[in-house]
Amino acid sequence: MKEKNYRFAYTVIENIQELDTMDAVLLQEARELTKAAYAPYSKFHVASAARLASGAIVKGTNQENASFPVGVCAERVLLGTIGTLYPNEVIDAIAITYQPENGSSDEPISPCGMCRQALAEYESRVNHPIKLILAGMKGNIYIINTAKDLLPLAFGGDDLKQII
Ligand code: THU
Repeated sequence: MKEKNYRFAYTVIENIQELDTMDAVLLQEARELTKAAYAPYSKFHVASAARLASGAIVKGTNQENASFPVGVCAERVLLGTIGTLYPNEVIDAIAITYQPENGSSDEPISPCGMCRQALAEYESRVNHPIKLILAGMKGNIYIINTAKDLLPLAFGGDDLKQII
C-alpha cells in the first residue's frame, strides 16, 4: 500500500495593486462585466475575462435559464467564445469574479467542477497553462498558476486513446 499526496502552491495577495498591470486590467474588466451577467434566478452574477497570447481580451458571463440546468457558467461561456472566435489561441490568464445582487463579494470564488474540466481541456488543446486570477469585487485575490492544479487526477483525452 502506498499513500500519495497532492499539493499545489498558489499566491494570495491583498489587493489589486499587487497584480502586474496586465492582470490588474483583466480583473478590472471582469469586475465591470458582472453587471452584464444574465442571472435572474440565482441573482449571482459571475464574470470572467481572458487575455489571449495576442493581447486580445475576451469576456464571458453566466447565462441562466428558466430551465435551470440549461444555464451556463461564465467560464464555459468564455471558453466557448474563445474556441469559436480564436480557435487554438493560447490563453495566458483568466480573471474570474462575481457580484451577488444581495450579498457581499469580498472573497474569491473558484470555478465549479464542470468548468475545471473545461479549463483543463483548453490547456491540453493548446498545450499551455492558463493562469487563474480569482477574486471578489474586493478583498483577497488568489493567483493559480495553471487550471490543472484545481483538477487532480483529471480525466482527459489520453484516457480515450484505446477507443479513438
Ligand atoms: N457560476 C459561474 O458562472 N461560475 C462559477 O465559477 C460558479 C457558478 C454561476 C452558475 C449560476 O448561474 C450561478 O453562478 C449560481 O451558481
